[in-house]
Amino acid sequence: MTAQDFIPKPYSKTINKGSVTWSSPSNIALVKYWGKREPQLPENPSISFTLNNCKTITTLSYSKKDNDGGFSFDVFLDGEQKDAFKPKIETFFKRTETYVPFLKDYHFKIETQNTFPHSSGIASSASGMSALALCLMSLERSLNENKMTDAFFNEKASFLARLGSGSACRSLEGPLVVWGAHQEIDGSSDLFGVKYPFEVHDNFSNYQDVILLVDKGQKQVSSTVGHNLMHDHPFAQERFKQAHRNMSALKTVLKQGDLEAFIKIVESEALSLHAMMMTSMPYFILMKPNTLEIINKIWSYRAETNSKICFTLDAGANVHVLFPENESSQVLEFINTELVAYCENGNYLCDQIGFGAQLINNE
Ligand code: DP6
Repeated sequence: MTAQDFIPKPYSKTINKGSVTWSSPSNIALVKYWGKREPQLPENPSISFTLNNCKTITTLSYSKKDNDGGFSFDVFLDGEQKDAFKPKIETFFKRTETYVPFLKDYHFKIETQNTFPHSSGIASSASGMSALALCLMSLERSLNENKMTDAFFNEKASFLARLGSGSACRSLEGPLVVWGAHQEIDGSSDLFGVKYPFEVHDNFSNYQDVILLVDKGQKQVSSTVGHNLMHDHPFAQERFKQAHRNMSALKTVLKQGDLEAFIKIVESEALSLHAMMMTSMPYFILMKPNTLEIINKIWSYRAETNSKICFTLDAGANVHVLFPENESSQVLEFINTELVAYCENGNYLCDQIGFGAQLINNE
């Protein structure tokens, strides 16, 4: 597949208006995407668990307008108009216009809501951009009189989502999605996410993710700025090689269910990501003191109990606590007695591996 393959032939049907609703989840990377080049191509492959509970539900309503050369859309979050979201969507439309050439033929109303609090510090870009990309693909599918395979639909939706936000292309399917070409992963591509194609041990079924909300504030440095700082980064090439090696190692780990080895890869990836931030120029730190307190507590608990709990981080201070389902009651007890004290207002979210986006309505 090349990007050219996603440029459609003229549509066979005219549609004046309609609306479509998709729900799409967030995801948490095990091997991290950090560093990209134009147009939104990753510098290294990444793999993530798709989440189940943290998701965005988006309704796209469309009505035909004259193509006057401009985009026309309104965005609502929880029923309230959100002009602050418009620039990001405008950029997304500009990047995807070649592939969904109907964008200027419609006025769009984009109504979105998240199952997690907007102020939780959880990025909604992965779930939000994937939900919007899926809505556009549903419209394209109707314009094509449904002549499109599900495989192509998913691939192109992921391709579009990537152009909105890189990690969004890993949210459409589950439970594990790879984005970025890797020699040992069949079908992997820089252009879109693909379902992890190999055997996964039962140890990973229903894997749990408790998200400890350490800091709900706005990040000082956006992911996009952070990615760009990898361009002249002194350790960039080594980091990209490390990600390739970790993907290879994870393949064996996922097959064998080796949780000890899993922990080493996942925690090392999280700390390597933050090490890249600390060694960028300009440098920055997104972890907070409580992030480190939590990490140390997790390490002590693991040493004392032989638990297979581990942590990962995204581009922020919150901590994702990952553990096998059979440890749920003990780990939740540990979180409630020892970790909630480090969460802002004691808040955390319980999630687990999920299976991807769902079409809610199409009329
Ligand atoms: C640290 O996908 O948010 O979460 O492509 O600029 O929108 P853009 O960045 P984004 O970056 C996420 C980076 C990460 C790691 C990961 O999810 O792989």
